Formats: sequence, structure tokens, C-alpha cells
Amino acid sequence: MRIDIFTLFPRMFDGPFGTGIFQRALSQGLVELHIHNIRDYTHDKHHTADDYPFGGGGGMVLKPEPIFEAVEQARKEVPAGEEPPIILLSPQGRLFCHATASELSRQQCLMLICGHYEGVDDRVRQHLATDEISIGDYVLSGGEPAAMVVVDAIVRLIPGVLGSEDSAKHDSHSDGLLQYPQYTRPATFRKWSVPEVLLSGNHAQVARWRRQQATQRTLERRPELIDKAKQGPEAQPPSADMT
Ligand code: ADE
Repeated sequence: MRIDIFTLFPRMFDGPFGTGIFQRALSQGLVELHIHNIRDYTHDKHHTADDYPFGGGGGMVLKPEPIFEAVEQARKEVPAGEEPPIILLSPQGRLFCHATASELSRQQCLMLICGHYEGVDDRVRQHLATDEISIGDYVLSGGEPAAMVVVDAIVRLIPGVLGSEDSAKHDSHSDGLLQYPQYTRPATFRKWSVPEVLLSGNHAQVARWRRQQATQRTLERRPELIDKAKQGPEAQPPSADMT
């Protein structure tokens, strides 16, 4: 998968994408990452990427021209025939979830635009982005942490990225339920013992216990997930209408 990220702060990605599973995916050639500095696509002496909002009000707004230019340039580099989703990260987007991560993990190319300041000129949303995603009902100071969250959740679902030992198939949300409790050695720690069934070696009993624990946890903590799972995939919110 080719991932293009458009940002005013490219260095923010050095740490998170330079380690762990993501780094492994990069070195195995399963993921190709291109980070573009929006400021490199400005043409004035001061490399101005933002400006005051029309109509007044506080804060600054990201200008459309450098973002359009950066994305249009990168689109020339994607393989012919690919129409990558162009995702604007913003608190106004559709809420990110496992189903969206799974759907996006099947793409060959993805483009993510990180907003900043008071926001992004709305013509970017209307005429360039094909999707708008929020990672939660709170406001970050920029779209970069949101892009990291989205990319992390997507990349771990690409076949081959996780070894079989850390497979994603038992993750919370992968089957609509929260994950069952996990334990490792020692079997007894400070007088707290792990549930007997996990030491039994009876795989059918272990599977039944895990399913029951996952259901109980989900009912207690996130009952709305059970309702959603019952309604099936069509209960997921539709893609944002970008017009
Ligand atoms: N940018 C600022 N806040 C955000 C959020 N909650 N999700 C995605 N991008 C954002």
C-alpha cells in the first residue's frame, strides 16, 4: 500500500513510523510512505500556508492552493488507474471505526491531509477530499495525531504486516465485540490466579470462555456495539457526502 500524508509538520511522523510494526511493514515493502510538507508547495517569499478567515474571527485557516498542488503532484506518482481515497482529517468527519479501517486496508493507495489551526479552507473538503474522518469527538491541535491513528489501525490489517503470533483476528472490534481478558505467566501473581479454564488445555472450553467474557465485557462497557453487531454491516454510517 502506498500512503501519502500532507502536513505542515513532517517531523512529527519520524518517531511513530520509525519503530515497531510500521517500520517492519516499511522494510518488508508492504507499505510505502510519502510525507509531503504542504509548505513546500507555497510560492511566496515567506512560504505562507495559512491566512486570516474571511468574515473575521480568531485563528488562521490553511490556504487551499498549496494543498491542492501537493495532492495533485502526488497523484501523478500513483500507479495508473488508481483512484486513491483522499482523506481529510478533521473533527467534522465521519467517526473512524474498525469497519472503516478494514475497508481502507484493502486500498492500494491512500492520501491523508492533516488540517491545522482553525481549519482548512472548505474548498479542500468540497473539491479535493473524497472522505473526511474524525478519530473522536474532541479537537486536536492538528490532524497529524489523527493521521497516525488512522494509518496505524489500517496498516496492521494489511495481510503479512502482523506475524501470525500477533494476528489481528482476535482484536477488540474485529468481530464487533471487545476483546476477552488475556493472561500470561506466572499463573499466580501476588495471590491472583488466572482463570482455571485457561490452564486446562481444553481448546473448546477456552474458546467458549473467551466468547462469553467478550460478550459480557461488551454488554457491560459498550452495549451499543452489541446492537450494531446484531444489525449487521449495513448499520455502519455511510461515507460522508463531500458536496
Ligand atoms: N483534527 C483535529 N481534531 C481532530 C479529530 N478529532 N479527528 C481528526 N482530525 C482532527
